[in-house]
Amino acid sequence: MNNKICMITGAGGGIGSAITEALFSCGCRLVLMGRNEEKLKKVAAGRECLILPGDICNDDYIKKAVEKTVQTYGGIDVLINNAGVAQSKPFEEISMEEYDMIMNTNARAPFFLCKTALPYLQKSSCGTIINIASVTAHHGYALQSVYAASKHALLGFSKALSKEYYQKGVRVHVISPGAVFTDMVKVSRPDLTGEGMLLPEDIAETVLYLMKMRHSASVADEIELHRGTKEPFM
Ligand SMILES: NC(=O)c1ccc[n+]([C@@H]2O[C@H](COP(=O)([O-])OP(=O)(O)OC[C@H]3O[C@@H](n4cnc5c(N)ncnc54)[C@H](OP(=O)(O)O)[C@@H]3O)[C@@H](O)[C@H]2O)c1
Repeated sequence: MNNKICMITGAGGGIGSAITEALFSCGCRLVLMGRNEEKLKKVAAGRECLILPGDICNDDYIKKAVEKTVQTYGGIDVLINNAGVAQSKPFEEISMEEYDMIMNTNARAPFFLCKTALPYLQKSSCGTIINIASVTAHHGYALQSVYAASKHALLGFSKALSKEYYQKGVRVHVISPGAVFTDMVKVSRPDLTGEGMLLPEDIAETVLYLMKMRHSASVADEIELHRGTKEPFM
């Protein structure tokens, strides 16, 4: 884990900041991505890392972020596509603009970040992509139609990508959590109180687990996490 070069999107958010903290504690060299520079600086808390503020829906930002990472650290070992936006709105009220914004953030941007970073991930001895999907990558919930579509898309392309690249040395994993106690779930599921919810640190631990298993012969393609109070295997 020490010195591994990891790019993480949405590093200033609830889950992203927990993943960032966990990776800092393992001695990784981090690239923190997100629109809000202040949030990224707060998470970095003066520690050495690359802070690249920008919008992942902007293709030029994706290209420059990869270039800057390689210029600064000499390569990329791990890409964590964590940034995302949620939605809680009746189907008939969703505009084309909202559809595009959610699909672009949750599916298109990770797709092209993977594509842009892959030449460098392939050169790494432990090239790894971890895409943070959601339980909605498997299920449809009322009021979350675009969010579900975007996470199904993220899971779908991750499956295809993993098959194209596992023999070329790059592993692609998906983590699909249920409700995690962050600002996002307060918007997407205002009915939940926080009681018994997953914590951002649970997702961070799962990221560490996947990274630590990188040189093992066994692979976990996808890890689904749900609240302990929910019925298992649903
Ligand atoms: N919370 C849950 O219940 C839950 C459950 C399952 C899966 N997830 C997934 O986990 C991931 C993290 O969610 P979270 O709960 O930590 O939410 P969060 O606290 O709202 O964080 C989301 C992050 O995404 C970044 N982001 C959004 N749009 C962006 C854009 N266009 N360009 C760059 N960065 C952008 C935001 O950064 P800025 O504000 O700086 O732009 C923010 O830091 C998401 O993919 C989400 O779908 C969450």
